[in-house]
Amino acid sequence: MDKETLNKIRQQFPILKEKINGNQLVYFDGASTAQVPNFVSEKVEHFNKTKRANVHRSVNTLSYFATDEYEKARRKVQKFINAKRSSEIIFTAGCTDSLNLVAQSYGEEAIEAGDEIVVSIMEHHSNLIPWQQLAIKKHAILKFIEINKDGKLDLEDAIQKITDKTKIVAIAHASNVLGVVNAIPTLTALAHKHGAAVIVDGAQAAGHIPIDVQKLDADFYAFSGHKMFAPDGIGVLYGKKEFLEKMPPVKFGGEMITTVTRKSSIWAPLPQKFEAGTPNISGAIGLGRAIDFINKIDFKNIQEHEEELVKFLLPKLEKINGLEIYGPKNYNEHTGVITFNLKNVHPHDLATALDLAGIEIRAGHHCAMPLMEELGVESSARVSLSIFNSKKECDYLVKTIKEAKEFFENAIK
Ligand SMILES: Cc1ncc(COP(=O)(O)O)c(C=O)c1O
Repeated sequence: MDKETLNKIRQQFPILKEKINGNQLVYFDGASTAQVPNFVSEKVEHFNKTKRANVHRSVNTLSYFATDEYEKARRKVQKFINAKRSSEIIFTAGCTDSLNLVAQSYGEEAIEAGDEIVVSIMEHHSNLIPWQQLAIKKHAILKFIEINKDGKLDLEDAIQKITDKTKIVAIAHASNVLGVVNAIPTLTALAHKHGAAVIVDGAQAAGHIPIDVQKLDADFYAFSGHKMFAPDGIGVLYGKKEFLEKMPPVKFGGEMITTVTRKSSIWAPLPQKFEAGTPNISGAIGLGRAIDFINKIDFKNIQEHEEELVKFLLPKLEKINGLEIYGPKNYNEHTGVITFNLKNVHPHDLATALDLAGIEIRAGHHCAMPLMEELGVESSARVSLSIFNSKKECDYLVKTIKEAKEFFENAIK
């Protein structure tokens, strides 16, 4: 990306002018939460200041406007992931909320004792614990697809694990640790051959790689707004109509019914059946606007920029003595998520040293404890790249890691 375009994009993010510990903020933690551009925050502020009202309720101008904006946002999401119908888009509180909804609704109905649920060892806890708990409750069996030496999903193992006993396959589109993109179409074809439903966790894909739920043939697809330039507290669950229509709601209250009597209730059609109570209206509008932001930059440019940064940064990190990267070593097999450990330096110490220099990264188990165990570590450091990051920032990161390494090495001497 040329300097002028990058500067224009950076101007959209006023937070980048902030100082952290006296140094210019360098934000390398977009995989935890992305920053919100002015283009999005101004729209949300405008709605809240001048147009705020509830949706699908009152017969007044503001409410009509709010409903219109909220439903427009749903259609933007539909287009963004190429769903067939806007009624297949359910607004939730986030990816975790979406995955829990599928587990508690579809999962509860589909799973019986002895059935098998297949996840991968690289799953975020949000796409693991709901299935683990369902398996415990239903006396079902939870199986894990392993990874190979490169940190990529072992597709041979997937063939072994996904069988006629499998009822659900829950899998990340992109890993929040290993920086890999999983072969979802291959997995959906395999799962469907055995009659299993596929739930895709798209938290780390949304905003980084184009999503086409029809091409992926995912039965469900979940993601969060806050990882793709939208406000927090808003997320999406996509589900194929034929699945959603048969599923019972798991939250009850206003707006999810057509008729209520003393004795019973009739559920509203999709998607309202799954949106009980007042939804996060401004969040949904913000998510719609974040999609406009991504479209304005153009997905191609986002992908190219992130790839260019990975190509630039990965070899520089690899050259640091004692730095081990988890996941593929080839830049073209890597998303903008790079996870590593520095020999003899605890990732929390490294993250603190970087923080003192103004660089924000994530350190810890990344909500993927079984994966950490598999990698033989308790925690690791993670750098995640975004559309506004620059090569200069990458160089500063590498320099600061080297300085921290030297500091800690001298400290143990
Ligand atoms: C792969 C993956 N799945 C799910 C989640 C959960 O997302 P949220 O906390 O927004 O619900 C995350 C968050 O980091 C993630 O990286």
